[in-house]
Order: sequence, then C-alpha cells, then structure tokens
Amino acid sequence: MCEVICIANQKGGVGKTTTAVNLAASLAVEEKKVLLIDADPQANATTSLGFHRNSIEFNIYHVLIGTKQLSQIIQKTSITTLHLAPSNIGLVGIEKEFYNQKRSGRELILKKKIEDVLGVYDYIIIDSPPALGPLTINALSASHSVIIPIQCEFFALEGLAQLLNTIKLLRKEINPNLAIKGLLPTMYSSQNNLSRQVFADLLQHFDEQLIKISDTQNTIVIPRNIKLAESPSFGKPVILYDIRSQGNIAYQNLAKAILKRA
Ligand SMILES: Nc1ncnc2c1ncn2[C@@H]1O[C@H](COP(=O)(O)OP(=O)(O)OP(=O)(O)O)[C@@H](O)[C@H]1O
Ligand SMILES: [Mg+2]
Repeated sequence: MCEVICIANQKGGVGKTTTAVNLAASLAVEEKKVLLIDADPQANATTSLGFHRNSIEFNIYHVLIGTKQLSQIIQKTSITTLHLAPSNIGLVGIEKEFYNQKRSGRELILKKKIEDVLGVYDYIIIDSPPALGPLTINALSASHSVIIPIQCEFFALEGLAQLLNTIKLLRKEINPNLAIKGLLPTMYSSQNNLSRQVFADLLQHFDEQLIKISDTQNTIVIPRNIKLAESPSFGKPVILYDIRSQGNIAYQNLAKAILKRA
C-alpha cells in the first residue's frame, strides 16, 4: 500500500525541502517507487532535482485546477524509481482558485488527484510551503502522516503549537488518520551551544515524538552539513552528490527508520 507523507512546518527555512528531496531520494535508492510532489510555489524541490522552474510546461497547478491529471505532469529523474510532480511560481494563483470552490471539499482537492496514482508508488512525499494556507492544508489532508522538521536554532519551537493544533483540527474534521510520523531536528551543529540547547529541549519535552533508528533507538538528527546545502545547486539529491557525507548518512537513516515502521 502506498504511504503518503507530508513534510510540513509553517516556519520558513527549517529544512522542509531538503528533507522532502533527500528522504524521497533515499527511499528511492532502497528500491521503493517514490513520487515527490512539490506543493510549494517557490518550486525549490523542483529545482533541487535539476529542473529549471520555467522549462516545464505543466505542473501541479494545472492538476489542482483540473486541466491535467497528475500522471500527465510527472517527470522522471536521474534516479529511476524517483519521479517528480513539479511546481512553478504560478501555483500562488491556486489560493484564489481554492477560495472560489465550495466550502466543503476544497481541502481535499490534492487528495482526490493523488488517488489516481496510489497504485503506482510505494511512497508519495509532499513538500509544502512555509504557511498554514490552503496548499499546506491540502497536503496534510492528502497524507497518512507528517514529518515536522525543527531547525536547531533560536525560535525553533515557535509556531509548533499552532501546527500541532491545526493537525488536531484536521484530524477531527477532515483526515482522522493523519499521524505525526515525528519531529525531525535539522541543521544540528554539535559545536554550537544554542543548537545543543535546542536539541536538549526537544529531548526533554518531545522525546516520544522524535524519530528513532529502529535498532539502536538513537534519535535521528540531521546535522548542519555543507553538502546538503550545495547539492541543490547541482540539481542533485545529496546521495548523488556526496554519498559519504554526514548529511546523506542522516537522510538514509531516516529512510530506513520509515521503511522499518511501514
Ligand atoms: N542540514 C542542513 N545543513 C546545511 N544546510 C541546510 C540543511 N538543511 C537545509 N539547509 C539549507 O538551508 C536553507 C533552507 O532549507 P530548506 O530550503 O530545506 O528549508 P524550507 O523549510 O524548505 O524553506 P522554505 O520554508 O522557504 O520552503 C537552504 O539553503 C538549504 O540548502
Ligand atoms: Mg521549502
């Protein structure tokens, strides 16, 4: 059965796209069939996989407004088992389109579109924008679970209560089975006091929610790693850019943890 996982946090720049791209790639090299859906008008996941944002004619916007089916916009990537549903800045227009829809059902548009390809993929990973607007709500409504990247910096937990509350409401009203797969500390730097402090706070208050390596029960933490920051400019997930980097090892561990839980 296909598992749909949304990467969400309305806070900007916390590592959502880096997580979406590299988790998708790591699952794909484990021979799982993976679709990465870029649901962010910034189209960072699209460019991170080497696609120029304006060179693709049709994108997720056209799927959401109903002029294309999801299967018609899907692109192949340099990893055979990884496909991409690209985005484009034009996706900002979707908010207006959504508000023109009847009140009921507009949160479930992406979920309906995904139904067509559920039989094709083992995992669908959705990258969402830094807002709790209609795109993120659609992404969460379409998902079985959510991973919440938390940047190990000052204000790390800002907005988390609001996000958890939104998830609670969505469970009540739209998607009763939406699970929190876990909080994922990102950009952790052991040399940095603040980073260590934020991680200690996460362990103290949210230990249950942190994702663990199955065998050792060690918490999965994504380190601050230059290779993770560089690889998008080469249009590659980090596994194709520097397989031995700490960043790649961390995302491969995340993929393994998710495979074990499946
Ligand atoms: N573990 C890491 N180590 C070093 N740099 C990182 C790491 N994770 C992310 N970055 C860099 O930090 C910046 C923000 O990351 P990313 O784009 O993944 O965040 P985001 O949450 O998707 O942002 P937005 O909210 O704008 O969509 C990017 O330049 C990215 O390359
Ligand atoms: Mg992003």
